[in-house]
Amino acid sequence: MKIAFVGKGGSGKTTLSSLFVRHLAATGAPVVAIDADINQHLGAALGLDEAEASGLPALGEHLGLIKDHLRGTNPRIPSAQTMIKTTPPGAGSRLLRVREENPVYAACARPVELDGGTVRLMVTGPFTDADLGVACYHSKTGAVELCLNHLVDGPDEYVVVDMTAGSDSFASGMFTRFDLTFLVAEPTRKGVSVYRQYKEYARDFGVALKVVGNKVQGQDDLDFLREQVGEDLLVTVGHSDWVRAMEKGRPPRFELLEDANARALRALHTAVDGTYPLRDWPRYTRQMVHFHLKNARSWGNERTGADLAAQVDPGFVLGEEATAPA
Ligand SMILES: Nc1ncnc2c1ncn2[C@@H]1O[C@H](COP(=O)(O)OP(=O)(O)O)[C@@H](O)[C@H]1O
Ligand SMILES: [Mg+2]
Repeated sequence: MKIAFVGKGGSGKTTLSSLFVRHLAATGAPVVAIDADINQHLGAALGLDEAEASGLPALGEHLGLIKDHLRGTNPRIPSAQTMIKTTPPGAGSRLLRVREENPVYAACARPVELDGGTVRLMVTGPFTDADLGVACYHSKTGAVELCLNHLVDGPDEYVVVDMTAGSDSFASGMFTRFDLTFLVAEPTRKGVSVYRQYKEYARDFGVALKVVGNKVQGQDDLDFLREQVGEDLLVTVGHSDWVRAMEKGRPPRFELLEDANARALRALHTAVDGTYPLRDWPRYTRQMVHFHLKNARSWGNERTGADLAAQVDPGFVLGEEATAPA
């Protein structure tokens, strides 16, 4: 299952992603956590100290390796140079799985021990101004998109992406890559306006979107969110002393998280698992191709000097059966 946490800066994306990752790890589920947020804090929120967090390998610095691994022997992609962030897999491509060792994880993922289990953490690396453009060839999130587009994940495996709801993810189609997107919103007009914008994009592509209210303090906050987002409000989280203690560098055992917040995490988990029956690999593949052709036309063909539409393998559908020879 692929899950995104999006929202306004400061709303609590990283906090809630990290709590959800901790919750999943405590259930024994295999988890890959990916930090694709502009401010790279997921490692710290998972308990890494400054030296450990800054020592994490950046996905953005291993794009060449990632592309070479993923294109495998796919004859439609003869070189990493013509592989852009939206290039879809086809016959001969190598696919990724949550539970395996592979060269991408070896180069870019690091184990993080949490109460109850160990997860894999991957980070895009810090963003610069140049990364925030709409059609950026070297975009930091490109590596994440490539990985998601080559990932075959099952119902009891989780990839959690802490992500910026920026124009980049709309242009490239990254926002369509998830079984469920949690939009983290504080009970404020600004918090809700990000929801409205996301919902607009989401509607056209059948993106499953649920709002998680954060820093919700009382009935008035709850009423506000209910009134503004209606049925899309899944659950709310209040101020957490557990989170505050963690931020002071004194993380309590995860079992000590407040009951109400633990319940909220279980509700997220249930909602995620409930989307699996709706998993539609052919649609997932079609959307991947749609955004690839769009990016090819708008900048990719010109930038690479190749006709990138030719990278699309018309007979290929990503899915559990799409085992490409490695
Ligand atoms: N439920 C919460 N309880 C206590 N502090 C919180 C909570 N949610 C977020 N915070 C704090 O608010 C700040 C911003 O949260 P963060 O997760 O970094 O936001 P984002 O990733 O959306 O920019 C952090 O200092 C975080 O610890
Ligand atoms: Mg963040």
